[in-house]
Amino acid sequence: KRVILAYSGGLDTSVIVRWLTERGYEVITYTADVGQGEELSEIPQKAKDSGAVEAIVEDLKEEFARNYCLPTLRALALYEGKYPLTASLSRPLIASKLVEYAQKLSAHYVAHGSTGKGNDQVRFELSVWALAPHIEVLAPVREWEFKSREEEVEYALRHSIPVKVTKEKPYSIDKNLWGVSIECGPLEDPWQEPPEDAFELTVDPRKAPEEPQYIELEWEKGVPVAINGKRYSQLWELIADLNTIAGRHGVGRIDMVENRLVGIKSREVYEAPGATVLYEAYRDLLSLVLDRFTYHYFLQHVPHQYAKLVYEGLWFTPLREALDAFTENLAQWVNGKVRLKLFKGSVTVVGRWSPNSLYVEDLATYSEKDAFDHRAGAQFTKVFGLPLRVLGRVRR
Ligand code: ARG
Ligand code: SIN
Repeated sequence: KRVILAYSGGLDTSVIVRWLTERGYEVITYTADVGQGEELSEIPQKAKDSGAVEAIVEDLKEEFARNYCLPTLRALALYEGKYPLTASLSRPLIASKLVEYAQKLSAHYVAHGSTGKGNDQVRFELSVWALAPHIEVLAPVREWEFKSREEEVEYALRHSIPVKVTKEKPYSIDKNLWGVSIECGPLEDPWQEPPEDAFELTVDPRKAPEEPQYIELEWEKGVPVAINGKRYSQLWELIADLNTIAGRHGVGRIDMVENRLVGIKSREVYEAPGATVLYEAYRDLLSLVLDRFTYHYFLQHVPHQYAKLVYEGLWFTPLREALDAFTENLAQWVNGKVRLKLFKGSVTVVGRWSPNSLYVEDLATYSEKDAFDHRAGAQFTKVFGLPLRVLGRVRR
């Protein structure tokens, strides 16, 4: 009985290694670097100390950025209009790797450390089934005997599983290149303002620089390629740098009560400085280069639908792929640059330029260069307003 376990190196997943081993499984751990910014070199030893027969560690930062963050950005997808889907996005990628290794190493099982009341279990399992329906998914946290953190720690100590003795923060944190999700502890009271120690990517806007910082973001075919003229060949590095730049100005804090798939509402705090800047810039450039019909169609049909797909674990679906084809087609026009101002927690687009811009100054201007036919305006208004005149005549 061989199982590939999604392994973070934390207490839960370390205990899972031991717990599964005790039940006769041969455990191979899989750890992905998705930009969580943690040192992963000690992971294999840690996994083996907990009982794993093998430990795989892989750098997925660029794959995560290109194939998961970028399409979601192009869809301007925000769950319930706010959450940039940071944690949600890493699950299908990790699940696809669990499946890949299960097949390579002939394992019939994969395992994850999600609880039974969250979204992540759904994302992991639906992704695995979509890719390999014969593989069985194990979720020990949903069924094990520990009723509290203390019982779990006791079990860990009993089996000499390394437990961090340092007093940890009271939060449950999931971090990757696209942002951080923070839950639990004092955040469970939705009336309570998040304490400053909940944040790690962004500074308190009160302590941000007193002067605004301007940045210029350059785009090619819907891909951000340069910050202030500095080009990046790796998208993940551009995102990481944007996190630093915007984080210093306190940009990208999100506080919300959201609807989980399992029916409960939960209070969530997010930090996504880089993503917040990229969403603002992309939306602005898109509005400059798309005609009205296409832009309105996009806004009405894509962001909400795409966010639902990602949030609900439906990444590996024909609908997601078809929406990607749609936004990729639009992205061919998203060239040029956006100037943004970062200041005390806010990001504002203050300038935009594109070789594909549909903004025509002769038509827009109120100066003597004006080329718009004002007399046509009268005819247009008359015809456009006809339904209201009819209403007025018949009803009043
Ligand atoms: N509520 C967010 C989501 O569903 C964040 C989940 C964070 N996961 C975690 N294991 N802390 O995407
Ligand atoms: C979990 O339950 O494992 C984390 C929270 C979530 O998935 O929403």
